Amino acid sequence: MLFKQQALLRQKLLVLGSLAIGSLLYLVARVGSLDRLQPLCPIDGRFGPHSQDEIPLQALQFKRGLLHEFRKGNATKEQIRLHNLVQQLPKAIIIGVRKGGTRALLEMLNLHPAVVKASQEIHFFDNDENYAKGIEWYRKKMPFSYPHQITIEKSPAYFITEEVPERIYKMNSSIKLLIIVREPTTRAISDYTQVLEGKERKNKTYYKFEKLAIDPNTCEVNTKYKAVRTSIYTKHLERWLKYFPIEQFHIVDGDRLITEPLPELQLVEKFLNLPPRISQYNLYFNATRGFYCLRFNIVFNKCLAGSKGRIHPEVDISVITKLRKFFHPFNQKFYQITGRTFNWP
Ligand code: A3P
Repeated sequence: MLFKQQALLRQKLLVLGSLAIGSLLYLVARVGSLDRLQPLCPIDGRFGPHSQDEIPLQALQFKRGLLHEFRKGNATKEQIRLHNLVQQLPKAIIIGVRKGGTRALLEMLNLHPAVVKASQEIHFFDNDENYAKGIEWYRKKMPFSYPHQITIEKSPAYFITEEVPERIYKMNSSIKLLIIVREPTTRAISDYTQVLEGKERKNKTYYKFEKLAIDPNTCEVNTKYKAVRTSIYTKHLERWLKYFPIEQFHIVDGDRLITEPLPELQLVEKFLNLPPRISQYNLYFNATRGFYCLRFNIVFNKCLAGSKGRIHPEVDISVITKLRKFFHPFNQKFYQITGRTFNWP
């Protein structure tokens, strides 16, 4: 009898506990989505003419609110007008380097309440057809934002495309330019891995990295191979420097962004004259993914797509050594020009 009563009590406690946890979870989710669902308060109450130092913390939450709804097509034209939302040309562009960690950098910067990202790579300046459509076409590709926010886009092809520096200069000669780099040989292998995966998806065969990176006739590094050329950072940067002073560039360490993202992001905040808002809270290491993922708030978090962080094929060590030796003088020049030194071999 006593045993039966105890079992009943345990069952009751279990039900009550589940109810309490359920209600708590509901409340948490509700609070997270409140500013997405409730009627919006007048813009001046929440976003007065703040100086950049005064960007309210809850803006992060708010940004996920209306802007998020707008992107999903749920915000009305009236809300957009009320909140003075605009499509602004970018104040900063992540111009490259392909496979340097450009997506991670953009997504992580987007954690900042004053930053709004252009989700897609727009390829305005490197694609003649797009460029011919004019600057208004480009602006219309930008996300809606509040006037105090800055828009950032990334198109890694900009870094290596001949015409781009002049075209960007014509749009805005004082724009801020972000370049994220990785150890050049690793970057080249990552570049190769992406192409290889594309071929495999189409059931096509592809050459081994070693065959592409080394000229079989001379046994020297094949500088015609795009993945090698892209990693000669200094060559590309020198073209940009014909239009922009070095102070307008900020170099991000893509290898460190993988292992220790916060200090790299803090350097970017400084470069963009943004108040420091991205914190350790916004970044958590996901052991399954093997990478840092993003936490916007108690409800919203996300990791980058599976296409980011691929397993690289094994490459012959003699080829790696040859490539590293080849890149070495270019790297030295790159350190000298940018004033940022890396421990690349
Ligand atoms: P790998 O796939 O070679 O590992 P990009 O966005 O410019 O294409 O760069 C892709 C690279 O971003 C990936 O290269 C990965 O290493 C790197 N990366 C940096 N931070 C990351 C993160 N938090 N999640 C996933 N990938 C990240």
